[in-house]
Amino acid sequence: MISEEQNALLTQSGPATPMGDLFRRYWIPALLAEELPTADCAPVRVSLLSERLVAFRDTTGRIGLMEEFCAHRGVSLWFGRNEESGLRCPYHGWKYDVTGQCVELPQEAAASGYCQKVKLQSYPCVELGGVIWAYMGPAAEQPPPPSFEWVSVAPSHRFLSKRAQESNYLQALEGGIDSSHVSFLHRGDLNSDPLHRNTQGAKFAKGTNTVFDIHDSTGGLLIGARRSADPGFYYWRVTQWLMPWYTLIPPYQGQALNGHAWVPMDDHNCMAWTVTFHPTRPLSEYELGLMRNGAGVHADLIPGTFRPVANRTNDYLMDREAQAKGRYYSGVKGLAIQDASVQESMGPIADRSKEHLVATDNPIIRARARLRNAALGVQKGEAAPGLDTESQYVRSASFIIPVDDIFQDKAVEAVKVRAGEEHVAV
Ligand code: FES
Ligand SMILES: [Fe+2]
Repeated sequence: MISEEQNALLTQSGPATPMGDLFRRYWIPALLAEELPTADCAPVRVSLLSERLVAFRDTTGRIGLMEEFCAHRGVSLWFGRNEESGLRCPYHGWKYDVTGQCVELPQEAAASGYCQKVKLQSYPCVELGGVIWAYMGPAAEQPPPPSFEWVSVAPSHRFLSKRAQESNYLQALEGGIDSSHVSFLHRGDLNSDPLHRNTQGAKFAKGTNTVFDIHDSTGGLLIGARRSADPGFYYWRVTQWLMPWYTLIPPYQGQALNGHAWVPMDDHNCMAWTVTFHPTRPLSEYELGLMRNGAGVHADLIPGTFRPVANRTNDYLMDREAQAKGRYYSGVKGLAIQDASVQESMGPIADRSKEHLVATDNPIIRARARLRNAALGVQKGEAAPGLDTESQYVRSASFIIPVDDIFQDKAVEAVKVRAGEEHVAV
């Protein structure tokens, strides 16, 4: 349990909030690159950290991300005409380039100089790893581009999706950190999901006697979740939480690695990004077909949107018979929608002053403290943590070791990225 003030600090990320200032020190996943497929394609609305923005790719391929609303009288530039290296408001024809600078203002004589004085707030972007990333912080603090392993693998080795979640980012992030819920909420899917079943890990992950061993890393937490394996052995699942909102899911043998980014759109909504990647091989057509249809940790979406087919308005297609029979432990189908359903049910911002936390909540307690300290540190002029390659270029892992072996010794080696070598998984 935390106070209402502490909860507000952790959950509010709009402009001029401590958490918002912290988040604005990182490159932020803003769009899938495929959302802006070609020069002069249709502009896209983007909500990030309670700011409403519009993104477009201009005639020369440059990406613009700027305030959504025209400086003249506030029309949404989503209606704009993307033409001749700029986005033109359809109401009275004012035109902006990718930096947000007004470059044509038909009602004023060029000699007046008024056009040059009109500039929308805009943010630099980089396109990397199938993602368009935005930097919304002070120019002097702009970090090097992100260096997560999945960013650098070949496009054939990676599949990305995103879904909108109707909750604050923190309850989504906490779901990614709290792997003890796998034994309950996702129990049925460990038997049935084609990207999880028939692995040793799926068998032991159902054990409900989870014990955590948590270690601070430079950019987050290395979280070991211990369950019993065969007599004399423990099964360990190693989740990484990487600042500020990335989680890497422990892998299952023979399967690709999975990770998430839980990015605030505003304080009541977040975008749940999901990446599946394999360090040493292309993803198969079989895997890609399943993921496009919402298998694994991806979600089945309403075409043309990032809204899941199963959502709050249809009770996530609750199936009480499947719940009774244990096919889906909660009655909701699919790992991603199981997470969305329970997390959205907590309300737009979970009231953490009313919680009753237990030992298996220690990873989220530690993560909250790290986030809070990082946000307060930035307010005092300290650097944001986890921006360096050493912090970001790591893996999750799963392994079985004798009960007397030291977890940390094995884990530190298992999470290292070794180019050309597969990840450690059982
Ligand atoms: S409102 Fe955009 S040009 Fe008038
Ligand atoms: Fe989950």
